[in-house]
Amino acid sequence: MPEKFPDSEAAKKVIQIKENFDFENGHLSPSLKDDDNILSKCFNYHAPGQARDLGIYPYFREIEETGSSHVVIDGKRVITISSNNYLGLAKDPRVISAGVNALEKFGIGCTGSRFLNGTLNLHRALEKDISEFLNREDSIVMSTGFQANQGTISCLLGRKDVAFSDRENHASIYEGCAVAPGKTLRYRHNDMEHLEYLLKKNSHIKGKLIITDSVFSMSGDVANLPDIVKLAKNYGATLLVDEAHGMGVLGDGGKGACEYFNVEKDVDIYVGTFSKSLGSIGGFVSAKSSVAEYIRHKASAFIFTAALPPASVAGVIEGLRILVDDTERRTRLHENTAYIKRAFFDMGIQVNNNQVPIVPIQIGDEALTLYMNRLLFDDGVFAGVAVSPVVPPLKAMIRTSYTCEHTREDLDQILDSFKKNMKQLGVFPQ
Ligand SMILES: Cc1ncc(COP(=O)(O)O)c(C=O)c1O
Repeated sequence: MPEKFPDSEAAKKVIQIKENFDFENGHLSPSLKDDDNILSKCFNYHAPGQARDLGIYPYFREIEETGSSHVVIDGKRVITISSNNYLGLAKDPRVISAGVNALEKFGIGCTGSRFLNGTLNLHRALEKDISEFLNREDSIVMSTGFQANQGTISCLLGRKDVAFSDRENHASIYEGCAVAPGKTLRYRHNDMEHLEYLLKKNSHIKGKLIITDSVFSMSGDVANLPDIVKLAKNYGATLLVDEAHGMGVLGDGGKGACEYFNVEKDVDIYVGTFSKSLGSIGGFVSAKSSVAEYIRHKASAFIFTAALPPASVAGVIEGLRILVDDTERRTRLHENTAYIKRAFFDMGIQVNNNQVPIVPIQIGDEALTLYMNRLLFDDGVFAGVAVSPVVPPLKAMIRTSYTCEHTREDLDQILDSFKKNMKQLGVFPQ
């Protein structure tokens, strides 16, 4: 990384970035000059190198030490607002100790699929815990949340079926729909009129599946589950909800947005992940026994991949116990979320009025966003950046997310840095 840029150079720097960076249609893309063979696109892919030379490359940062609210990068201790470790469980001593015990007992991996040799009694114990927690008949623990969505959707959506998927749904839902033989129609984000229009138009189709994230990972929006449930009932559709960012965060018991809206009974398939509030890795799907039994025997993304390693499973079992018992963590998370959102709102930034600890700061222009992110890092704040195609072109954002472990001092330092740098770059009216 180059030396810290002098403040007075900010505008010049943004211009330099715009002139030297390969923005194609406003997003970070390869320059496809010489497309004669399959690898030409790789040899002509210069954008990451250019961004590194300009000191604004934000990805694959090597983290040397981790904590719940801080990490060490390039030897420097910085506050992290880019993780999804909402309840601070990734480094909880009880979770670590459960993981260590399982590691010693079962070894580092399962060396095979759950289907054949990779199902430990630990996997079944976790499945029972999840089913009990969510009041479902059965659950299947998979190796990632991505696979849980991809595997479930691709095996359920048959040739004659139609999926109705929110446009802002996670990539794993897109992938599941792409692999499935059935058709997918995307409705405008959280737009119930559009969803109803599509359902009405396809009312003759017997197999209809509505798919939505409960909490959208980039915007932090919450799905309009009460209306989605009504539409699912009116049009005879099955409902799949991905609670990746809802579980541990929303609802009195931390079960997610379905609990928050009191629609748990109306949701047919509940998908979740252990990589956010539970601080680990892995995913699951919960449903009626016969549905789970079918997915267990049909989902390629589950059958043809190695099982979740024992240490992760044991850590999640312990993490889930803490998530249920220690409600104080969720209270602290909500307090931090309310504090930071109020302060951003007072700075003139639009924020969602909900309890979701994902707070996107939309900058728009990609050069400005990448440079802003670099300036935040110089101030000791490590945030994530989303540029096209993750978000639409010219809607680049700094994605910030919070945990129960951030202190008021951390939050004030983050706010001060945003305030200073946005003012310096002329990004918002202050
Ligand atoms: C909404 C949503 N669903 C699913 C996933 C995939 O989860 P995992 O990281 O466990 O594969 C993510 C992760 O980014 C997500 O944000």
